[in-house]
Amino acid sequence: MSIIKGFHHLTACVSGAQEDVDFYVKLLGQSLVKKTVLLDGDEPVYHLYYGNAQGDAGTLVTSFPFKQKGVKGRRGSGQIKVINYSVPTGSLDFWRERFGARGVVFDKAVVERFGEQRQRFQHPCGIEFDLVASGNDTRPPCIAHDIPAEFAIRGVHSITLSLREVDESIIFMKEALDFHYAGQSGPHHRFEAADGKPGTIVEFVHEPDRLQGSSIYGEGTIHHVAFAVDNVEQQMQIKEKLMSMGHIDTSESVNRNYFRSMYFKMPGGVMFEAATTDIGFAIDEEPGHFGAEFQLPPWLRERKDELLARLEPIAV
Ligand SMILES: [Fe+2]
Repeated sequence: MSIIKGFHHLTACVSGAQEDVDFYVKLLGQSLVKKTVLLDGDEPVYHLYYGNAQGDAGTLVTSFPFKQKGVKGRRGSGQIKVINYSVPTGSLDFWRERFGARGVVFDKAVVERFGEQRQRFQHPCGIEFDLVASGNDTRPPCIAHDIPAEFAIRGVHSITLSLREVDESIIFMKEALDFHYAGQSGPHHRFEAADGKPGTIVEFVHEPDRLQGSSIYGEGTIHHVAFAVDNVEQQMQIKEKLMSMGHIDTSESVNRNYFRSMYFKMPGGVMFEAATTDIGFAIDEEPGHFGAEFQLPPWLRERKDELLARLEPIAV
């Protein structure tokens, strides 16, 4: 049994901030859980967290709107290719109609894989998403005024990694991270942590001829996936196991204000993270008011006005 509980969050570099808010909140019915900043160097970039209203691990997708930096990422292998959201069975027609009415780019055909129907669509910055219809997701629906609960997103279903080679990465998922190998379907391989329900599933797509994608922050690419662990002690258990197996590309435990993070590279080149669930979003905003105000970690709070003045205003 893996000590990984499933997903904590996924992080992507998108284009503009307002179009990103409109995509997650207005189109997909996600809540803006936290509005904060990435300060990597001197110029601030928003760090926007979306998920269910409670900010539960496994529902969270976060964005760095990178348009203002003018750095474009290159999509390719060695990257997360698709973010898959979980919706109830029988809801794909609702979503196709919604995408059509709102000018969203989406595939004409529904695809089936591992017994689940899936609908591909695109974020305005070009990142690919699937809605996966699952009858096996017991998580509460994400509440939005214009989306019936019976069709609403339940959280992240899975991620799809594009890999040029899969052999070593399959061993890594099974032996280093203790995922269960659930099987192969054509070029796709599926792994499950914990109970194998939506929110615990990693998928590889084997694309031996696809060129390597970029790996640092760049517009239009999914940067990393964070898996949920209870605390720093569990994080360090993972780190020690990875180090003992020769997977030495691991970070220290880093303070991310709402959780602690330890980053590590898997053999196929994708950045993974183990994030702790022992802190959470209630440290600076009351539950029920998550995402209401611009928030900064204690070490940046006195620069709030200055940083905010350098960011595009956004309306939710
Ligand atoms: Fe992260």
